[in-house]
Amino acid sequence: MFLQILFTLSFLFSSSNALDFCVGDLNAPQGPAGYSCKKTEEVTVNDFIFSGFRAAGNTSNLVKLAITLASSTIFPGLNGLGISVSRIDFDVGGLGLMHTHPEATEILVVIQGTICAGFISSTNKVYIKTLEEGDVMVFPQGLMHFLTNVGESQALAFASYSSASPGVYFMDYAWFANDLPTDMLQETTFLDPDQIKKLKGLLGGTD
Ligand SMILES: *[C@@H]1O[C@H](CO)[C@@H](O)[C@H](O)[C@H]1NC(C)=O
Repeated sequence: MFLQILFTLSFLFSSSNALDFCVGDLNAPQGPAGYSCKKTEEVTVNDFIFSGFRAAGNTSNLVKLAITLASSTIFPGLNGLGISVSRIDFDVGGLGLMHTHPEATEILVVIQGTICAGFISSTNKVYIKTLEEGDVMVFPQGLMHFLTNVGESQALAFASYSSASPGVYFMDYAWFANDLPTDMLQETTFLDPDQIKKLKGLLGGTD
């Protein structure tokens, strides 16, 4: 009887250890709930550490902005924990184009510079504000939002997301970076064809 209780207790303790985390096995397929768990004996402290924020991202691009996202795809310790984080570097004039994270609420912390940020609710109301260093703004899950560096120097922010793999859906890329026909876009957006062709050219879409 005593041995049986001891056995049951040790089983309970060892099985509760297994629930502490589920470090992603990046070689296994990813499903909607994330990756399968790496074997506990193969997990090391490095699975819980991401060093990709040490250096600024490369902002030599169209939008003068770099987002380095630490999601479960490259930071396996996040798998199953419902959280991720990004470093956002803005050059002067840097733009975070209109986008949504369908799976996640975002919380933004401004570390350096002056960032104008906003989101649009599902009743089409705009919530917009110029943020200073130390300010924090939340973008509720799924809502379209944007960020622009309105200061005269570079800016830096960090953002956290309520998903280990938040996903991002940029409106301009969804509309203009593919082969959705110009006449269909015109009909479904009221934009004129010249504007559509110009944006397709800028973002790599075709007619
Ligand atoms: C930054 O990106 C640009 C454009 O892709 C590239 O030409 C440049 O070499 C990159 N700079 C660094 C430091 O990686």
